[in-house]
Amino acid sequence: MSLLEKINNNKTPSHIAIIMDGNGRWAKQRGKDRAYGHQEGVVAVRRVVEAAAKADVDFLTVYAFSTENWNRPDEEVDALMELMVYSIVKETPDLIKQGVRLALIGDYNRLPLKAKDALDKSLKETANGTKITLILALSYSSKWEITEALKQITHDIKEKQLTSEEINEETFSNYLSTKGIPDPDLLIRTGGEKRISNFLLWQLAYAELYFTDTYWPDFDKEHLYKAILDFQCRERRFGKTSEQIKKEKL
Ligand code: IPE
Ligand code: IPE
Ligand code: MG
Repeated sequence: MSLLEKINNNKTPSHIAIIMDGNGRWAKQRGKDRAYGHQEGVVAVRRVVEAAAKADVDFLTVYAFSTENWNRPDEEVDALMELMVYSIVKETPDLIKQGVRLALIGDYNRLPLKAKDALDKSLKETANGTKITLILALSYSSKWEITEALKQITHDIKEKQLTSEEINEETFSNYLSTKGIPDPDLLIRTGGEKRISNFLLWQLAYAELYFTDTYWPDFDKEHLYKAILDFQCRERRFGKTSEQIKKEKL
């Protein structure tokens, strides 16, 4: 029985978020430069999108570039931006074929013009995809996102489009860039570190966390299915007791 067949279709995580880490170390291990690791990282994204779609995951969010990653050496930032443009242009026809709808979270305005153009085009061309939504977190950080939400809320209150009484968890969520997207059920981080690195702090409130030492370029469909199977063994209690959860399931 393959790992995919072992997955219980009634308990598939609707939304998986991934911190794709370890590209640099993967390349270093092979005596290559970091850019090579990022290139192979793109191949892994392709593989994992396909595998997630097969497992009937509805949303896949991948952390591709953080706000803090702007502080890397210019040479690496430039290589990453170029790779992104190249990959988006190259992969879009295939995304369309697979029914992938692309979405974006992050500080779009900081991206170079070329990247914006490639992304705009791909967002438009993949808009009718219904199989899976692939959310690229680009120039993204959670503290940035929450700060932006607060700025917008203050603005809307000032403009009398919102009252402070109307602010609750739901209205607040609607000010985040993930508006309309359910919170991740499962967070995977590759590369061995056990931290969140400013990723989806609000949205991950009740996600199951899965850490693996596998470097991102080595992460394949079997690794994804293993993580999903692990997720399916967890009891999500959301603050309740185990007994309550069992009763609800009857
Ligand atoms: C993750 O791999 C990709 C990005 C952050 C863009 P890294 O580049 O962080 O690789 P390591 O962690 O240095 O191995
Ligand atoms: C997190 O990886 C960001 C992405 C995967 C895009 P980093 O490699 O930048 O994270 P830290 O700095 O080690 O926490
Ligand atoms: Mg890293």
